[in-house]
Order: sequence, then structure tokens, then C-alpha cells
Amino acid sequence: MPEPLLSIDRLNAFYGRAQILFDVDLQVGPGEVVALMGRNGAGKSTTIRSIMGLMERCTGSMVFDGTELRHMDPFRISRLGIGWVPEDRRIFTDLTVRENLEVGRRPARPGIPAWSEHDLFELFPNLGQMPDRLGGRMSGGEQQMLAVARTLIGNPRLVLLDEPSEGVAPLIVEQMANMIVELKRHGLSVLLSEQNLPFAAAVSDRAYVLEKGQVRFAGTMNELSENEQIRRQYLTI
Ligand SMILES: Nc1ncnc2c1ncn2[C@@H]1O[C@H](COP(=O)(O)OP(=O)(O)OP(=O)(O)O)[C@@H](O)[C@H]1O
Ligand SMILES: [Mg+2]
Repeated sequence: MPEPLLSIDRLNAFYGRAQILFDVDLQVGPGEVVALMGRNGAGKSTTIRSIMGLMERCTGSMVFDGTELRHMDPFRISRLGIGWVPEDRRIFTDLTVRENLEVGRRPARPGIPAWSEHDLFELFPNLGQMPDRLGGRMSGGEQQMLAVARTLIGNPRLVLLDEPSEGVAPLIVEQMANMIVELKRHGLSVLLSEQNLPFAAAVSDRAYVLEKGQVRFAGTMNELSENEQIRRQYLTI
């Protein structure tokens, strides 16, 4: 593998006194789509929140493009080019689709093509059909697309997607899969937290499986698909 874009080394994370992550090692290469899998409570969101600088206490190291992220403020981490789409989407319900996108807009980054509103409406035609719709008047799936689009307009190099397929209609899940393939085509890297194995398998190069805050499997997506024991033991089938 070439030099990873994100390299996490022996990450431990805590909520108060409770340790949630135990020596998690994880890499995301440039242009790679990596699935972070595991059942409810396994530690997927905690891993993502640690990367974004949102855990009050963690130890270990998280290096993004040569910069250590630990002890860095969340807004600085985001400025380095890490985009986060949280589990709960956080759409502004009283702003329109266009206005929600404006909130996420950041300057272009040298060396990578910037996302315009036009590009995003091409990527998500549903959004293009409702530019003036209020966030609060959209379906869960449409809000999920808007949350992704709002992150992309910030021109990230690495996108952290936290369970984008959760509670979303099958047709939208298919669009999410196409979107991830498109991001990869644009050269972006993606860390995708997921429980939905067919969805993750359709778009990911490699996978990590967490259980009780520990990495129980690391390998290619093909290796995971073929490893029935790991799937049975640690994933919901
Ligand atoms: N704010 C919090 N305070 C204390 N413990 C928490 C908090 N948030 C999560 N936890 C605990 O941390 C563990 C990991 O949770 P996490 O949200 O990372 O799991 P997850 O893999 O994202 O699960 P899900 O698929 O349900 O989103 C769980 O045991 C959970 O109960
Ligand atoms: Mg979660």
C-alpha cells in the first residue's frame, strides 16, 4: 500500500472512566474506500468522533497527511480536509437545500477539483429537483443526501460517513452506493461506518470489523465476504 492518508495507531478512547476503544489500528490510503463495520455499540462512531477531535480523552496516534490530529481542535481538523457526515445528519430544518449547502461551503483545495452546487445536483439529482425545499420538509433519505452534499461542498480529501444507509429507503441506499463510487473516481478517500454488509461490500476496498472497541478483523472486502466465521460472529446477517 502507498503511504496512508490517515493512519491510526493504537487508539484508545474514553467516555469519562469508561474505555470504549482498545488499541485500534486503522489505515485509509489515498483514493481508498474503507469500511468500518461492527454491530450496535461496537465503537464505529467513537472511532469517527476520535478522528474529528470530539472525544474528551484518547491516547495513541492519528496522523492525517503527516499531521498528528490528537490534541487538535475539531475546526482545525476539518480545515485540514477531513469531512464528517454524522449519524444524525444535522440538517438545518428551517434552511433550504441551497442554504444548507452554503453553510458547508469552504475554499477550494489546491490540486483537487472543487465541488460546485451544479456538480452536487448532478451527483444527487433528487436534491437538484428541490433546491428551495426546507430541510425539515425532506424525507430521511433526502436529508442524508443533503448531509453528504453539504460535507462535499467543503472540499474534503477524506470523508467520514457514519452509517449513511441507516433508516434509508433501498432506492436511496443504491444512490448512496453510486455516490461513494463517484467519490472514489474523484480520488477522494472514504471511511464508511456500516452495518449493512452488501452495501459496504459493493463500494469498499478493505474492511475493519470492530467488536467491543477492538479490531477483530482487518482485510480486503473480498476476504471479509468469504470469511463466514467473522461475519457470523461479529456482524448482523
Ligand atoms: N456519550 C456517551 N457516554 C458514554 N458511553 C457512550 C457514549 N456514547 C457511546 N457510548 C458507548 O460507547 C460504546 C460504543 O458506541 P458507538 O456509538 O461508538 O458504537 P457504534 O458502533 O457507532 O454503534 P451504532 O451502530 O449503534 O451507531 C457503546 O458501548 C456505547 O454505549
Ligand atoms: Mg454509531
